Amino acid sequence: MSRAAVLAGLGTYVPPRVVTNDDLSRDMDTSDEWIRSRTGIAQRHWAQPGTATGDLAVEAGERALKSAGSGDVDLVVVATTTPDHPCPATAPDVAHRLGLNAVAAYDIAAVCSGFVYAMASAAGAIAAGIAERVLVIGAETYSTILNPADRTTSVIFGDGAGAVVLRAGEPSEPGALLGHDLGSDGSLKDLIIVPAGGSRHPAGAAAESGARPAETYFHMEGKPVFRHAVTRMAASSRAILDRAGWAPESVDWFVGHQANVRILHAVADQLGMARGRTVVNLDRVGNTSAASIPLALGDAASRGLLTPGDRVLMSAFGGGLTWGSTALVWPRIVTG
Ligand code: UT7
Repeated sequence: MSRAAVLAGLGTYVPPRVVTNDDLSRDMDTSDEWIRSRTGIAQRHWAQPGTATGDLAVEAGERALKSAGSGDVDLVVVATTTPDHPCPATAPDVAHRLGLNAVAAYDIAAVCSGFVYAMASAAGAIAAGIAERVLVIGAETYSTILNPADRTTSVIFGDGAGAVVLRAGEPSEPGALLGHDLGSDGSLKDLIIVPAGGSRHPAGAAAESGARPAETYFHMEGKPVFRHAVTRMAASSRAILDRAGWAPESVDWFVGHQANVRILHAVADQLGMARGRTVVNLDRVGNTSAASIPLALGDAASRGLLTPGDRVLMSAFGGGLTWGSTALVWPRIVTG
């Protein structure tokens, strides 16, 4: 009998500072009307300067462990685009700060698909008998990589963290992840990129001029990314629905990566799902990249949308390019 990864706990955290579209319009050539109509976003949370991704990850991690009813895990996986340092990974420090000393801990870098990749990695570790219980965290501080001179990206992204505990269980149990579909297309890596700061273009030299070089900021080609996001998320969702044996119209909730409400609706349309079955929280938190799916799950749970027995489809798309999907039947858990 194969071992499945079963959802046992969920916790979320966003930093307290709310930045509204009107706040951004004061310093940038943009408007509440443009941002809302093009994306669906009304506000986002940005961490105070000095707050790192690991700080948000610890908050969400604590809540997920509490939700799971046990601080007992043997692996911590942190999905992030904005690690605390280029080296070492953020996960070991997060594990240490959560009091989980000596557990295995590593980061996953798959940009906005990071959480779905991290859940697949955790499920693989559980299936292989490497881990019994895994804390999977998606956490981001995009405010640290957004270029204030680039209105096309600055209005979209927010900071936050979401975490789940996955435990070993039976494939037939509620909460069991019903397979994973993952993919990538590196030929399009330049569409979503922080050009400098890695080994191809080290960031150090330019910093001597005093001003932060534009190449160290996040860059995205919105239009083609939009098109690829719809196509890839729809195809990946279909692959998972086939594997689960679920008809699209039998899905209770589509929890897609919260990049743009127009993308979520386009994917729902392509799949033949009612748009009303789409979980949307990007209006309040913006695009939080690797934190997006767990924050959306937490929001849907706290609003009472997710009830035990519901069929939940999750699908994400992001830089790399990368994409991925998974699905589960919502279990009886108390979320934090
Ligand atoms: O999380 C990873 C995956 N990310 C995504 O999936 C994001 C996908 N892309 C998108 O969501 C959309 O492409 C954006 C929201 C980023 C942009 O929306 P768009 O409808 O594709 O707009 P656009 O980039 O084509 O820009 C339309 C116009 C341009 O002006 P002109 O050339 O028509 O005069 C832009 O300069 O809107 C202008 N514009 C803005 N205006 C006011 C771009 N950004 C802004 C802004 N405020 N913030």
